[in-house]
Amino acid sequence: MENINLEDLSANGFLNIPVDPSLDLFIEIEKLKKEKNAVILAHYYQDSDIQDIADYIGDSLGLSQEAAKTNADIIVFAGVHFMAETAKILSPSKKVLLPDLKAGCSLADTCPPNLFAEFKKKYPDHIVITYVNCSAGIKALSDIVCTSSNAVQIVESLPVDQKIIFAPDKNLGAYIIKKTGRDMVLWNGACMVHEIFSLEKIIKLKERYPDAKVIAHPECEESVLSVADFIGSTTALLNYTKKYTGNSYIVATESGILHQMILSNPNKQFIPAPPNNNCACNDCPHMKLNTLEKLYNCLKYELPEVTLSDELIQKAKAPILKMLDISAKLGL
Ligand code: 13P
Ligand code: SF4
Repeated sequence: MENINLEDLSANGFLNIPVDPSLDLFIEIEKLKKEKNAVILAHYYQDSDIQDIADYIGDSLGLSQEAAKTNADIIVFAGVHFMAETAKILSPSKKVLLPDLKAGCSLADTCPPNLFAEFKKKYPDHIVITYVNCSAGIKALSDIVCTSSNAVQIVESLPVDQKIIFAPDKNLGAYIIKKTGRDMVLWNGACMVHEIFSLEKIIKLKERYPDAKVIAHPECEESVLSVADFIGSTTALLNYTKKYTGNSYIVATESGILHQMILSNPNKQFIPAPPNNNCACNDCPHMKLNTLEKLYNCLKYELPEVTLSDELIQKAKAPILKMLDISAKLGL
């Protein structure tokens, strides 16, 4: 076993140990997985090679459901920090590894627990529903967690006159208000990837590809959602491309999802919605911090690990379990 410099690990966020370039990492990772009874859970926004080695690929809801029921001893979470935290909260006795601890989330970062606690005090008669894209500290201040695939149904499961604080995503919040007509106070957060799509360029693309369906994640701005033919979580968007008979799609979400869309529909055309500048902004820089090499090292040395205090786990668990319970009852 190599000497691991823990100071380096905490400064880098990942194990900076060179990987032998002659190794076939797909074979090596498979071997390590079996040896250690580990499972790899990957979000659709991961690089395609990580999706290809994963045991389960899914959206935030599917990944939490999988983390809650796995029999593995080790969960390697190929996603971002809040997702790995959720897995740890749901399976505290398991070792949860994240290939790069710095894989954060711009949306989660908009909502620090101390500021949110102050905000919450202003609305004492409101229930707090938080989008899963937030830290464990925010979940601990919540009544119910939701994801983009069950947010509307979770809000609808509450009495009509129930006042609600919704955090941290203002775009998803505005979309829920539009769908449900509920009284919700919104935290002013947004995702850097979903806010950057250009409505003007999407409209131009639609002129070029008049038969293409615009499909969008509800984290997009209202203006982009207003031109969408279908709005849904990553899994819902993928399912739409499988079920719908149309041949081309303009996809307004992170580009990683295109891998599964193309695998499932090899004869269909997928056009990433363009951002409002010339950068590759529909790549999530946090998701893309994970690489196959980091994943290999992380499984081999069982570092970096996501840890949380027992107290935080207990407080953050109740609102997540409520979400899973409502989702199960609704068959989601
Ligand atoms: P999903 O719930 O669709 O997986 O979305 C997660 C996410 O981070 C979107 O930016
Ligand atoms: Fe967070 Fe946006 Fe990346 Fe999703 S795409 S993980 S919301 S920064």
